[in-house]
Amino acid sequence: MTRIISVLNFKGGTGKTTTVVNLGMALALRGFRVLAVDLDHQGSLAKWLGVPTPLTIAEVLLGQAEWPDAIQRARTRFDVLPSDRRLAEAQELLIQRHASPSILSDRLRGITSASYDFIFLDCAPSINFLAEAALYFSKEVFIPISMEFLALVGAREVIIEILRARRLFSAHTARVSLVIPSFFDARHSKSHQTLHMLEEYFPGIVSSPIRATVRLSEAPGHQLTIFEYDPKGPGSQDFAKLAERVMRNEH
Ligand SMILES: Nc1ncnc2c1ncn2[C@@H]1O[C@H](COP(=O)(O)OP(=O)(O)O)[C@@H](O)[C@H]1O
Ligand SMILES: [Mg+2]
Repeated sequence: MTRIISVLNFKGGTGKTTTVVNLGMALALRGFRVLAVDLDHQGSLAKWLGVPTPLTIAEVLLGQAEWPDAIQRARTRFDVLPSDRRLAEAQELLIQRHASPSILSDRLRGITSASYDFIFLDCAPSINFLAEAALYFSKEVFIPISMEFLALVGAREVIIEILRARRLFSAHTARVSLVIPSFFDARHSKSHQTLHMLEEYFPGIVSSPIRATVRLSEAPGHQLTIFEYDPKGPGSQDFAKLAERVMRNEH
């Protein structure tokens, strides 16, 4: 069974894209087949992993291309369905056409039987149509939360949105299955306080933290995952540990 996972926080810069790239790679290295779908028009996944974007998720959503033609092989067992700025316009068009949030699952029909073990949806940091479509398509939601107040607010908004979507569409079954503390810095008491608070708010579903490390922020500039850029460093250790947790969390 393919696990379809939205990676969501309505605050920007909380580590969503970093999680999709490095958790995706960690799982691919362990033998799983992984697809990362970019639902942010900034197109970070293609830029980070260095894949071309002749066709993107925008054309797929608009019915101008089929998903197998837009998928790019990024690494062994790690594919990307990329985006770029065309996605912003595509979203506007879909809203004008009163498209249903089921459009993502409709246009990606058959993708779950394409033998992927994991599909990660890298969402933009806004409550928009594509975030709703991602929630509609996914069963699980991972929320990366950086150690700051606004990231907690963004996480709370994700939960409100999930509840709202569930009321509107009975097919909505997404639920938060993992909260990922990111930018953790053991020297700062704020990090420990936030972690403690997360464990109270989300009992049993808080993963081990991803430490703040400059290597993680440098890796995209080299078009490398952390396992290629700094294989023995803290970023690789933390994402390997996270992958173990995700593998155990079978649903
Ligand atoms: N654990 C970390 N330590 C240091 N820098 C990080 C870490 N996680 C992410 N970054 C950097 O912070 C910025 C925002 O991260 P990103 O994953 O793009 O956030 P989002 O996708 O939620 O907007 C990026 O420049 C990224 O390289
Ligand atoms: Mg991002």
